[in-house]
Amino acid sequence: MNCRAHGEAAPRLVQTSSGAETEALGAELAAKLKPGDVVLVAGELGAGKTTFVRGACRALGVTDRVTSPTFTIGQRYAAPVGVSHVDLFRIAGLEDEDPDLLDDYVGADMIAFVEWPERGQQALAWLGRVAARVRIEHAGGDRRTVEMTAAANRRGSCG
Ligand SMILES: Nc1ncnc2c1ncn2[C@@H]1O[C@H](COP(=O)(O)OP(=O)(O)OP(=O)(O)O)[C@@H](O)[C@H]1O
Ligand SMILES: [Mg+2]
Repeated sequence: MNCRAHGEAAPRLVQTSSGAETEALGAELAAKLKPGDVVLVAGELGAGKTTFVRGACRALGVTDRVTSPTFTIGQRYAAPVGVSHVDLFRIAGLEDEDPDLLDDYVGADMIAFVEWPERGQQALAWLGRVAARVRIEHAGGDRRTVEMTAAANRRGSCG
């Protein structure tokens, strides 16, 4: 049987020159998302992860201000499909945390964006619904390289 439910498409590499361009990429990805999807957004401090998520949130109909969650691990935004935004920066490793930690932010009825996903790689993999991985890197000045990898056939023949 040709089962590629967990396969990944080839990464798409785009260079942006402003926050607005990175927001536009987020909006482009948002158009492909469905309830239950999780998008992992990796990259160094200040790379533009929250900027990318902001663009995606706007496109999904979020009208609230989209900023990094500061005092909580995540935020939820009202939108036609609920949107959540998780930042694991302060977490050493999700394995050491309450297993329910992400329950408010990841679920079948919402779309979730996770910054610093490497802090919870294993736990996030167990969720089994990662729709796309995004990596943003500094490329000098306001330039950023944005790599986007979509999960291929994620609800394909095995799903
Ligand atoms: N091409 C670009 N893409 C994204 N952001 C850019 C770009 N050029 C400049 N910026 C600026 O870089 C900053 C990125 O901040 P942002 O909060 O999105 O980063 P982050 O990766 O979420 O940081 P953190 O690791 O602290 O969560 C913003 O001030 C944004 O305006
Ligand atoms: Mg951020």
